[in-house]
Amino acid sequence: MIIAIDGPAASGKGTLARRLAAHYRLPHLDTGLLYRATALALMEAGLPLDDVVHAVEAARGLALTEYAETDLRGHAMGEAASQVAAMPEVRAELVRLQRDFAARPGGAVLDGRDIGSVICPQADVKIFVTAAPEVRASRRVREMMERGEKPDPAMVLADIVRRDARDAGRSSAPLVKAGDAVDLDTSALDVEAAFRAALAIVEARRT
Ligand code: DC
Repeated sequence: MIIAIDGPAASGKGTLARRLAAHYRLPHLDTGLLYRATALALMEAGLPLDDVVHAVEAARGLALTEYAETDLRGHAMGEAASQVAAMPEVRAELVRLQRDFAARPGGAVLDGRDIGSVICPQADVKIFVTAAPEVRASRRVREMMERGEKPDPAMVLADIVRRDARDAGRSSAPLVKAGDAVDLDTSALDVEAAFRAALAIVEARRT
């Protein structure tokens, strides 16, 4: 079974994907990490984030085991990843890696922006996770405070709105709900309730 989970930043899709993968004992790929790792490679080499040639080279060199996740997880890396992810050449380079992962025996759970629409249009279950921008921003602020950072809530909200616009407005594989995806709005749901709702969607599609 392939489960495709898409949605904007801080919608809760990553947590849901992890929980569903554990529940069904499937491997999970957080595809945002691929774009984050590509952006980090450019930054570490002192190169600009719109350097297509080196970004493609960095994307080509990625292996699924190489991530030091703590370097990649932060809010600023998400912004950098969004810039790198807007380049069609970078996206093209990462397609095979993601499709190979999805083709594992037994299936997989992948989360991102274009899993249901581009990477795995044949997925058995597609969930499009959303939440109001204010709710997503306050979740991000809480996470940042837990890491000891002192975020400005207004700036975090502005970043999220800008990132939504870039991810949904780019020409190549924009953030979009696949026609056969099921909406899941987590604005008013805690983690447990969101997981139960996602599980109900998967079970309904499976039968
Ligand atoms: O899911 P995330 O916040 O880790 O993703 C970081 C950025 O990477 C996001 O703003 C857009 C990009 N991304 C993408 O374009 N396609 C994906 N499948 C996953 C992430």
